[in-house]
Amino acid sequence: MEAKPTITNHATPDTDTAAARSTQALLEADTHLIHPHLPLDNTRRFIMDKGEGCLLWDTNGNEYLDATGGLWLAQIGHGRREIGEALSKQASRLEYFTSFWDFTNSSILKLIPTLLELVPSHITDFVFTSGGSESTEAAIKTARYYWYKKGQPEKNWILSRRNAYHGAAYGGGCASGFEADNFGLVRSCRISAISPRLTPIVRGCSTARIRWISA
Ligand SMILES: Cc1ncc(COP(=O)(O)O)c(C=O)c1O
Repeated sequence: MEAKPTITNHATPDTDTAAARSTQALLEADTHLIHPHLPLDNTRRFIMDKGEGCLLWDTNGNEYLDATGGLWLAQIGHGRREIGEALSKQASRLEYFTSFWDFTNSSILKLIPTLLELVPSHITDFVFTSGGSESTEAAIKTARYYWYKKGQPEKNWILSRRNAYHGAAYGGGCASGFEADNFGLVRSCRISAISPRLTPIVRGCSTARIRWISA
């Protein structure tokens, strides 16, 4: 088996302290972790350990400002006690149940009236997902299913913008506009046509490419 590269900590030079030794053990475990979007020759890591509001701390106690909100999805900040308490309460009562078939569960049903108040009035039905990638998959499937049921299954083009990001899963990965990230996926999705770049379709936005992803 090919030897794994040595992984090192990004922020702090290795010293012989308890924190550094514990970080070193975690870095060794990281050699078994597959990181999406990371070039293979990158061997340095930030090991985030704790968060509060917009601040983060790594395992060596270095403090960071999380200016992206945790990849744009921790908008209310890290380490919110009331969220932890609500999660704990719900997980102790019923941690999960499916909405497949004729099953449903009281937690999502209690949320629906609030959602109906928040969204525009033409949106009346909801799919619950675990995050953005799964939502993109649901959107692609729903759009294709719609046209399939309408008797026009050939209407299956997905438009994606250059430099767009639509998630780490299969359809969303294919639709993402980063060449380096989606190249393998595009082939495995059997995208059979990639159009020439269009002139900007919206003034001020980048050019778009049209892709067809075979079902
Ligand atoms: C437009 C868009 N789609 C999909 C995703 C993927 O979301 P997630 O990381 O929750 O899977 C993101 C994440 O930043 C996003 O910005």
